[in-house]
Amino acid sequence: MTDSAAPFLLACRREATPFTPVWLMRQAGRYMPEYRALRARYGFLELCKNPEAAAEVTLQPVERLGVDAAILFADILLVLEPLGIGLEFTTGDGPRIHRPVRSLADVERLDSVAVDEALSCVFETVRLVKKALAGRVPLIGFAGAPFTLASYLVEGGPSREFLLTKCLMRDEPAAWDALMSRLSDITAGYVNGQIAAGAQAVQLFDSWVGTLSPADSRDFVVPYSRRVIQRLTPGIPVIHFGTGTAGLLHLMKAAGGDVIGLDWRVEIGPTWTRLGDDVAVQGNLDPAVLLASIGEIRRRVTEILDAVAKRPGHVFNLGHGVHKETPVDHVIALVDIVHELSAR
Ligand code: CP3
Repeated sequence: MTDSAAPFLLACRREATPFTPVWLMRQAGRYMPEYRALRARYGFLELCKNPEAAAEVTLQPVERLGVDAAILFADILLVLEPLGIGLEFTTGDGPRIHRPVRSLADVERLDSVAVDEALSCVFETVRLVKKALAGRVPLIGFAGAPFTLASYLVEGGPSREFLLTKCLMRDEPAAWDALMSRLSDITAGYVNGQIAAGAQAVQLFDSWVGTLSPADSRDFVVPYSRRVIQRLTPGIPVIHFGTGTAGLLHLMKAAGGDVIGLDWRVEIGPTWTRLGDDVAVQGNLDPAVLLASIGEIRRRVTEILDAVAKRPGHVFNLGHGVHKETPVDHVIALVDIVHELSAR
């Protein structure tokens, strides 16, 4: 099979596939004993920045689950570290940014970033993974979208309400524009670096954009996401993903992407019809279903496949990442069920 005939890449281009391709966000991670074994030896950032170890983690789910694509093992926040903001992953609390960005002066103080040097370890991981995969399945690269990255920089860590971010965008439009412009440029360079190293598709994670109203998304986010997507190397499928985006999907489509990622809060069939059949869709099983019985997983997969009704351009995925409590056997069963039912 040539790479371009891989079911995952065909689906991204809305071409017919022999079965529905499936990969899972966070398919490599703490639910896997192989991952936990490596994590016992490295800190999280250390693991992301070690090309041999990160390549091994990227390949673990390909060997174990039979998924139709590999996703680079890295993190959306890696790209922020060279800005000199003091990124740390603390056990339990997740990421911390010790010098958050909350004014124009803060934006102007950010270090300048030469992506090729600062993130060369990630590009090296891509090259190692590509070699080891030897064309078995395509490799997906990724980055955070400007809004989701900005939310971490402004809040200083994870947030529920994003109040500091929303105040900055309204009260200090010049600071917001400067920050989002910087992030757009760095992100485009970072993703193009992954593509140059061999990534065959890329996903832009705008995980938290669903916190915004459609008007705020239109004014404060879409121009910058569009700027990133327009600068990406042509010919490489772009998956544009967010959660809680039921009211924003038309704006995400307008910003760009060959594939729109859907979470489980929408009905995939009618939502795709509304979006139009000029885009592919990815999704959208609730990741919590994987904690239920295999019979229940089968029922929920059937529902999604029935709703899609073999329209070309469906990539099966979860609506968000695999939970760390998920039994590995259930994830293997999910991949088998999607392949079995969709090939009928
Ligand atoms: O999907 C994959 O398999 C590739 C790897 C990947 C990770 N993070 C590894 C990771 C990807 C694509 C991401 C993206 C990411 N990182 C997002 C967007 C997607 C999403 O989940 O919404 C976000 C918001 C982050 C930032 C981040 N990284 C947070 C908030 C946390 C802490 C929360 C948590 O689950 O612990 C991380 C840590 C992280 N990123 C882990 C993994 C495997 C767990 C870290 C560990 O091993 O301790």
